[in-house]
Amino acid sequence: MKQSSNYRTLKLPADPTALKYHLMPPMGWLNDPNGLCRFNGATHIFFQHSKDPKGGLKQWGHYSTVDYVNYKLHPIALTPDCGYDKDGVYSGSAFVHENKMHLYYTGNVKYDGDKERIMSGRDSNVLHVTSDDGMNFSGKELVLTNADYPQNLTRHVRDPKVFAKDGVYYMVLGARRKDDVGEVIFYESSDLKDWKYFQTMTSSEPLGYMWECPDYIFLDGQEVLLCCPQGVDTRGDRFQPLYNNGYFKVDRNQLSEFVEMDIGFDFYAPQTYTDNGKVIMIGWMGMPDVDYTNVNDDEWQHCLTIPRELVLVDGAIRQKPIEELKALRCGYFSGQSITLENNSFEMVLNDIQGDLYLKLREDVVISYENQLLRLDMGNSGQGRTSRILELAELTSLKIYSDITSLEIFVNDGINTISTRVYNDSCKIESNCQFEGYILEGFNIEI
Ligand code: FRU
Repeated sequence: MKQSSNYRTLKLPADPTALKYHLMPPMGWLNDPNGLCRFNGATHIFFQHSKDPKGGLKQWGHYSTVDYVNYKLHPIALTPDCGYDKDGVYSGSAFVHENKMHLYYTGNVKYDGDKERIMSGRDSNVLHVTSDDGMNFSGKELVLTNADYPQNLTRHVRDPKVFAKDGVYYMVLGARRKDDVGEVIFYESSDLKDWKYFQTMTSSEPLGYMWECPDYIFLDGQEVLLCCPQGVDTRGDRFQPLYNNGYFKVDRNQLSEFVEMDIGFDFYAPQTYTDNGKVIMIGWMGMPDVDYTNVNDDEWQHCLTIPRELVLVDGAIRQKPIEELKALRCGYFSGQSITLENNSFEMVLNDIQGDLYLKLREDVVISYENQLLRLDMGNSGQGRTSRILELAELTSLKIYSDITSLEIFVNDGINTISTRVYNDSCKIESNCQFEGYILEGFNIEI
């Protein structure tokens, strides 16, 4: 298939909002990570990309890395170029089998004459593409259409994630029911080509109207369904607006209570892959349909999170920054107050006892008091304000700060808070002792 190399590369150093060690779009817009996989010694990170920085027709951009320090930007991998995906190569996944990369994605089709888009006016197809080298891709094969989905579903069925269990291949898709309840549907296959309906899973009580970007993983023998429910009402400090992300543990096809993962302003559509037996998750550091903004949004928008390893501890998922990021460390600091040269650093506060005050930028404060952990942002949030997490005890914080982003790992990663932030003050102050490392940026070969 023809590949186009239609990126216009940002001159990163000239852009004061550019990130040093987070993957940004080389131009335009980025959303969900797609097709994550370790293949022939490299990790491939595809992503939803649009040339229009405000978001538009979606295609798959493509980075790869061997060591998570040196990255390569590749030509656009998949573009809308057939009748089954003419309005967008939407999100999907990779499955590596016998030295072949299999990609599955949603082909989005909108009808000109019917703009209803929920019950009608849209097709959500599943397409399949293969690659022997991770760079050149086969022709597109149509594997599922709306006619193959259960009849109680709307036209919103998307984001195929393929996995294997006991020698059988499964594909999980997110769906919106006609009665506005979110769920996932599964297809099974013995050859990765022919797929037949297998089963449906949903929560015992409805949780939102649509579940996007599902993923199905195995952690220490525990089966886990991850997804992004849309339309869940905020309840006290649970369920942050606007859309959510999190997981259910699955036992005999029954879903446990939903656990929110990242409660930040900018985290959505995470996807996992397995590297050397480790389950690694990367999320989109962004959120659809919000009214807060990004500086420089006439040039580019959004980035991906750092890769996070998922582990199960006492029955709950913990997110841990991958070990490879240690290679970015280029200077050590410690104390209760420090001014750095820029905001590219990682820091930890261990053995936190009692209340916490931690100022990370001029008007960005993390605090813990009365069993509430708060992130409060002033103007530098560009519309992002406060996030609050009820927490019986705060023991540790690990923070990854980049020029315009924060990823906060609470109590060894039991919760995370990811957000973009726009303030270049570099004075850190706290009532607690902290230590950390200055991080250098990663390299991107174009
Ligand atoms: C999630 C999502 C997916 C869809 C993609 C389109 O952010 O809405 O459900 O496939 O983005 O870009």
